[in-house]
Amino acid sequence: MRENSTRFQDEGDRIGFVPTMGYLHDGHLSLMRRAREENHTLVTSIFVNPTQFGPDEDFKDYPRNMENDSVMCREEGVDILFAPSAGEMYPNGFSTSVHVSGLTEVLCGRSRPGHFDGVTTVVAKLFSIVMPNKAYFGLKDYQQYRVISRMARDLDMGVDVVGMPIIREEDGLAMSSRNAYLSRQERQSALSLNRSLREAEQMVADGMTEAAQIESRVREIIESEPHTRIDYTQIVDMDDLTPLSEIAGQAVLALAVYIGNARLIDNTILVSAIASRSEK
Ligand code: PAJ
Repeated sequence: MRENSTRFQDEGDRIGFVPTMGYLHDGHLSLMRRAREENHTLVTSIFVNPTQFGPDEDFKDYPRNMENDSVMCREEGVDILFAPSAGEMYPNGFSTSVHVSGLTEVLCGRSRPGHFDGVTTVVAKLFSIVMPNKAYFGLKDYQQYRVISRMARDLDMGVDVVGMPIIREEDGLAMSSRNAYLSRQERQSALSLNRSLREAEQMVADGMTEAAQIESRVREIIESEPHTRIDYTQIVDMDDLTPLSEIAGQAVLALAVYIGNARLIDNTILVSAIASRSEK
């Protein structure tokens, strides 16, 4: 991979990169399409990264389908599909990690200790190997996007980190490889995530600025469905992810909810009606 990237760079090609854990869906493909448009060379990686899963999490069960994924990559015009083994990425004696402080201590960082260190370390390695000019991340994992942008900037990685919109199923469920875990009934309950986000948007559009009231309505909608257990629902600052009590301008409403055994995340950007009115 490194030799190929060096050759592309020597030839003056710009490399666009989409890191994934595979079991590809339209969310992943939307990143590839944008990267395809904006770069000469498109590299995608598929690596189910063991170090970002906790001991009681779903690393072993995480859905995998390399055959199907490689067909999809070919159809999207991926030039190189990089799919290393865990042994290649973490050989014996591996002992380095990348830690971003602050941003990783809230939201998912709180309920998944060590998760973001696993993410930043593997993404730092992938950036060193692939040497992309631009790397594409979904805003579905909003905190991950912020953490990786911070890392790339702090460590002068020379990678332009691009955030891409959330792709949803027709009924509003955010696409995720983990949706494969849902039974029919659970999938029905999972729709409450998107429904609660839309309701929150409406409340803010109607002039509500108090975070606690919006969060409480969001929880009510989700908890009214069977099979749901909320991990967090929180309105935070778009940049530093600190909790907000009042929405002025833009804010992110982020949520993580167990539906049966599947832990799903989703979010939306809330735009305060008051701020947008004053901007006019
Ligand atoms: P994975 O969950 O496979 O996601 C790969 C990329 O696809 C991430 O940037 C994610 O935000 C994006 N994505 C997933 N679902 C999406 C959706 N519905 N709409 C838009 N984008 C979506 O995130 C990871 O893998 C890993 O943590 C990784 C960054 C590869 C490091 O191991």
